[in-house]
Parts: sequence; structure tokens; C-alpha cells
Amino acid sequence: PDLSQMYNLNDFEFVARHTMERTAWSYYSSGCDDEITLRENHASYHRVFFKPRILVDVTNIDLSTTMLGTKVSSPFYITATALGRLGHKDGEKVLTRAAAKQDIIQMIPTLASCSFDEIVDEATSEQTQWLQLYVNKDREICEKIVRHAEERGIKGLFITVDAPQLGRREKDMRSKKIEDLSHVQGDDEEADRSQGAARAISSFIDTSLNWNDIKWFRSITKMPIILKGVQTVEDSLLAVEHGLDGIVLSNHGGRQLEFSKPPLEVLIELMPILKQKGLQDKMEIYLDGGVRRATDILKAICLGAKGVGIGRPFLYAMSTYGDAGVFKAIQILKDEMVMNMRLLGVTSIDQLSEKYIDTRHFQTR
Ligand code: FNR
Repeated sequence: PDLSQMYNLNDFEFVARHTMERTAWSYYSSGCDDEITLRENHASYHRVFFKPRILVDVTNIDLSTTMLGTKVSSPFYITATALGRLGHKDGEKVLTRAAAKQDIIQMIPTLASCSFDEIVDEATSEQTQWLQLYVNKDREICEKIVRHAEERGIKGLFITVDAPQLGRREKDMRSKKIEDLSHVQGDDEEADRSQGAARAISSFIDTSLNWNDIKWFRSITKMPIILKGVQTVEDSLLAVEHGLDGIVLSNHGGRQLEFSKPPLEVLIELMPILKQKGLQDKMEIYLDGGVRRATDILKAICLGAKGVGIGRPFLYAMSTYGDAGVFKAIQILKDEMVMNMRLLGVTSIDQLSEKYIDTRHFQTR
């Protein structure tokens, strides 16, 4: 179908499922094990309802906000997803260009198909990019990557902490083909290719990474440091204690530990505890996983998130319609945001709060 017939983000997924090359579709769409967490990530949003207010002047709606000090057009970002060239010949650069045109942030993955510098070179001078880091066993390599990122103007270091080993994604294992990743760090010869694309390229990840390492990261960079893949209230509190600048509540889009809870659910548990302890302003809280509609974004913001990350929908848009597809997908979300904020009775992001939300369906579940 023509791009003008894409009415929501799920439409891109539908077209992608029917047109993408099988290996790429399998790698992008898969979750771990039986894909329960993958499904619950989105389904959790269905258990939260709005309490819209009427008779508010909603003529002018402002979607803009800030994330880690950067002003952005809207409270969502393109999160890090590996292997962009499986879906499009320009890979992650497609996302860079669309993010620039739409004034949103792109998080660059460690395992991008394009080199880090290629992706940064593609950005405009005003554009903000973040870096997602898989921590290499070889800390010298790690330090080089981090320092180089800072020199190149990266505005946030997102350390992925939910993947000491990559989860078992069986759809992906069945299709076994592996992209040429010769430029990507890692001891490729040791990789077990029978485990699918993801596992084969992840053998460099440091399984010994732990809370004591945070100090070291702090000592090598001035960039804000954010943990990506926090899955409990307990670890969120430890993140505050260790002086992190933020966390991303995330289970890696349901690709790691099966039956890890939906991030929205963790957020609902976490915020009252942070507030009770007076810690709600100590770090910025992000969330990703299953965000497909502006209503999902609005719910997360109302419940205390500073912004949300979106992964697969942009990969599907990129793989099916390239630059125009990603631009359109972002535009759809913005249009949905404006409409739904009007209907909710709010005119700016800072007005969103839990008073617009009913979470009773969660509590009684
Ligand atoms: C990911 N994700 C991910 N995360 C990360 O820290 N490093 C990575 O290399 C990748 N790679 C990756 C590839 C693919 C194909 C997907 C779908 C996801 C996880 C990603 O950053 C994010 O947590 C989820 O994608 C969010 O869920 P949704 O929006 O895809 O539902």
C-alpha cells in the first residue's frame, strides 16, 4: 500500500510482516521464548485508563519537552536497535535523517550496521544523539568508545544492563543468516552462529559488569550516564544511590528475560516510592517496550516518565518505506499526541500527571 494509507504504527508492522525479507523480519520482530513479555509490554497499556477533563481551552497544544537537558519536539525518542542494514541499505542513517527532520533524539546502538562515525556524520549540527553501550570485556576498547562518543558530541551514555547474555529468540535462530559485521567489535570467530544473528555477535559483552563499575564510567566521561534495562523498583533505588543520571525501565522489548514485567507496571510501582522518599527529581526516568500509540506515551508521562523510547515501529517503517516511512511514523505519533492531549484537556507536557490516570485495573488484577 501507498504510504498515505498508513494510519497508525501497527500498519507499518503489518506491511513489514508481509514484505520484509524473512531473516530481517525474524530478527526485528522476535521476542524471547514464548514472547509473553513481548506481548505484555504493549498489553499493559490496555489496563490503564484516562480521566479526561472537559471545558479546558485546548486551542494551542505544545508537545515540546526536554530530555537530559536537550529541548525536543515531542517526548519520545528512537531507541537503539542493532543491525539496521538488515532492513534498509542505509541502515541507522535512515533513522538519523528522519530524527533530524522531526527534531527528536536518536540513540545509536553499539551493534549498529553502519559505523558510529558514519551515523554521527549523517546528523545535522543541531541534532542530538545518544549512545547505547554494550560493555566490552576489554575496558580499553570500552573507554575508547566512550571518550570518542563524548568528543563527537554525544549527549547521553545509555549502558545496557539487561543483557549479560542475549535471550533466546527462536524465530531468529530458525533463520540463521548473519550480516557482515566485520567492523563490529568482538571475537567473531568464537561466536556460535547457530544461535542466530543476535547471539553470534554478542560474545564480547562483559558478564562480570556490576554496580562497582559505575564509578569507573563516571571517571572517564562527563556525559550523563543512564542505565538501560532496569526492571525493578529495587534496582531503580540502587541507581539513585549510585548517582546515575537516569534509568530506562525496559526489558529490551521482551527479548531478554521472559516474564520480566512490563515497564509500565514497574513505573506504576516505582513512582509512589520515589516520591515517598523525596527522590523523584534525582534522576530522569524513561521507559520503552510496546509503545505504539500516543495514548501509550501520554500514560507513561502522566505516571512519571520523562520520555519514552520506541524501537520496532521505526524499524518496520524504515524497512518498508525508508526515510519517508520513518518521517511519517513520527508524524503519526505527533498528530495523535495533539489530538489526544486536546481530548484529555491538557495543553502542554508538564501538565500531564497522575490525576489524568486511573490505574485501578492494575491494582485489582
Ligand atoms: C533491540 N534492543 C536493543 N537494546 C540495546 O540496548 N541494544 C541493542 O543492540 C538492541 N537491539 C535491538 C534490536 C532489535 C531488533 C529490537 C527490536 C530491539 C532493545 C530496544 O532498545 C528497546 O528496548 C525495545 O526495542 C523497545 O521495545 P519496542 O519499542 O521494540 O516494543
